[in-house]
Amino acid sequence: MTAYPVPAERPRRLRTTPALRRLVAQTRLHPADLVLPVFVRDGIDEPQPVSSMPGVLQHTPDSLVAAAREAVDLGVGGIMVFGVPREADKDGTGSCGLRPDGVLNTALRHLRDELGDETVLMSDLCLDEFTDHGHCGVLDDRGRVDNDATLEVYAEMAVAQARAGAHVVGPSGMMDGQVRVVREALDAAGHLDVSVLAYTAKYASAAYGPFREAVASTLQGDRKTYQQDPANRAESLRELRLDLEEGADMVMVKPALPYLDVLSDVAAVADVPVAAYQVSGEYAMIEAAAAQGWVDRDRMVLETLTSIRRAGAQIVLTYYATHVARMLGGGR
Ligand code: PBG
Repeated sequence: MTAYPVPAERPRRLRTTPALRRLVAQTRLHPADLVLPVFVRDGIDEPQPVSSMPGVLQHTPDSLVAAAREAVDLGVGGIMVFGVPREADKDGTGSCGLRPDGVLNTALRHLRDELGDETVLMSDLCLDEFTDHGHCGVLDDRGRVDNDATLEVYAEMAVAQARAGAHVVGPSGMMDGQVRVVREALDAAGHLDVSVLAYTAKYASAAYGPFREAVASTLQGDRKTYQQDPANRAESLRELRLDLEEGADMVMVKPALPYLDVLSDVAAVADVPVAAYQVSGEYAMIEAAAAQGWVDRDRMVLETLTSIRRAGAQIVLTYYATHVARMLGGGR
């Protein structure tokens, strides 16, 4: 006996052995909850590395199918596809994003042919990859992003992606009213079963930097007139209300780790599945620190993804999806 009072409660007791810790773990990672974002680039013969995202590639159509197949076989829940067109195909309205033979729609068709309904095929529904100015919408004559003119393009793009084989379209441009317009366009074209994953709370983040390299973005300036201000929290609940009213099937918070408070708020009230996107800069930060030997990569990956799930995300988009599925033992 010491001279001091002994603790009445001992939370450490449940941390005694790995088996006990596993038994009482409240949050689990499972490959089926993860979505792998992938890039497919037009006009290349070999996959190209993305220097700011070590381990991530811009795929050729063939290497894309192989990467998707690998992920699916390891039990990853879905694939989110981003297209990178040739520079020469970009224009003011992003028209190459709408063409059935454009890089994104062609890739969706190949993936759907190859994988059928074995996975959930998702497409990024946005113009920034396809416009020569790099904005997520079309511009008015003063160079500002024109919300309502952009909606018309999104509507057409959604139908093209559904036709190409997307199970889920992901409008990520943060235009007001985008979910309603996309839903109505899909319904009118007979795609009643194609879901809308709304980028509900998408912040104007420095963490998209490496993505801009991955999609060879030409953006000058920023996206602060359409993406949310990192200073704001309640606004995400407003965006959530609107997206649900407009018919979103799933909602997403992005980036993930710096916005766990927002994710928790959204998850507390949403009656649809909630996703979070561990974005390119979050990936790059882990990779950079791990390359220096400053953090343990795999522990950081598992801890960050567990935290994102714990905060309320049922689904997590992460460039680590295949890697994590392999770490977790893979297989369906
Ligand atoms: C827009 C879009 C972006 C990302 C996903 N969809 C870029 C942006 O909004 O600037 C970023 C994803 C990432 O950084 O990993 N098409």
